[in-house]
Amino acid sequence: MFVRNCWYVAGWDYELPPGQILAKTIADQPLALYRKQDGTAVAVEDRCCHRHAALHLGEIEGDCIRCMYHGLKFDASGRCVEVPGQSRVPERAVVRSYPVVERDNWLWVWMGEPARADADLIPFSVGPGDPDWDMRPSSMRFEADYRLVLDNLLDFSHLTFVHRKTFGGEDFAASLPRISRMERGFRVERWVRDTPALVFTQHVMTGRYDMLIDYTVQLPCVFVMRFQVYEAGKATEGPSDGKLLLDTWTCQSVVPASAGECTYYFSWGASKATAGREVGDLLYAGIHKAFLEDKEMIEAQYRNIRRDPDRPVINIAHDAAVNQMRILLDRTIAAENAGLAAE
Ligand code: FES
Ligand SMILES: [Fe+2]
Repeated sequence: MFVRNCWYVAGWDYELPPGQILAKTIADQPLALYRKQDGTAVAVEDRCCHRHAALHLGEIEGDCIRCMYHGLKFDASGRCVEVPGQSRVPERAVVRSYPVVERDNWLWVWMGEPARADADLIPFSVGPGDPDWDMRPSSMRFEADYRLVLDNLLDFSHLTFVHRKTFGGEDFAASLPRISRMERGFRVERWVRDTPALVFTQHVMTGRYDMLIDYTVQLPCVFVMRFQVYEAGKATEGPSDGKLLLDTWTCQSVVPASAGECTYYFSWGASKATAGREVGDLLYAGIHKAFLEDKEMIEAQYRNIRRDPDRPVINIAHDAAVNQMRILLDRTIAAENAGLAAE
């Protein structure tokens, strides 16, 4: 149920300070991450090849990691370089290592064949380190199939219902977006015109506005959205002709740990040209509250599905992007499995 040949977010860079070992599970693979002396991030399987102890309970020695069960030491490529009590290192004493790239303050790990790891496949995003944007990073754990979170991101009609107290707006469910295909995902664009501000901002934004919601969702589950608020203009098609009041990005990644658990990494922030720190505080509080609403709904949905997984669903107009992404995901996984079977 997981795509392997892709970059997954293993965490925010601040989660991995020098000298510490970070344990993460991605797509059922346990990882131990640490930094070499020059700061480069390393990811190895969190399972020693000797007797399968967890390497995140080990210790960093220079650029190496030592398993603290019986002391085998591995270099950053995963090769064993020392076995206590003997001079010979068995040839098969190797732990798997994974390509890692740090970009936009995210630690990206390639979970598939290392030879196919191409950093150009990392989706565009705006990180908290970008000086022009006040991006605030966070994360949340969902006890649910990550594909349900993916569905949620591809259908914003739920804003009207799940988020009626935070985002709200009947106009989200009433309008259909334009969906276009990308190589590894979809772009979803929607203008909502002459509408009240998002509920959680209505104490400071009291007028009527045009809003652009323009996002991409790319395999395995990286969501990057431009959200802009304009004074309500006269245009009924294309970009708003009102004045731009607020320009924001939100970058999100839903990373499956296992079949029924995922970590949701996210950020939201405004351009420093259109907003001050207080707006950043407001967005940060707003997205947290809203994602707790998603979490409650999706975790309960997942429990229902698990009780009776084969019961059919019903499709409505808003499911278009959801269904197309599921097809792309299933095809990609099937192609990877067929490739593995052929090898
Ligand atoms: S399990 Fe790691 S050294 Fe024995
Ligand atoms: Fe939501």
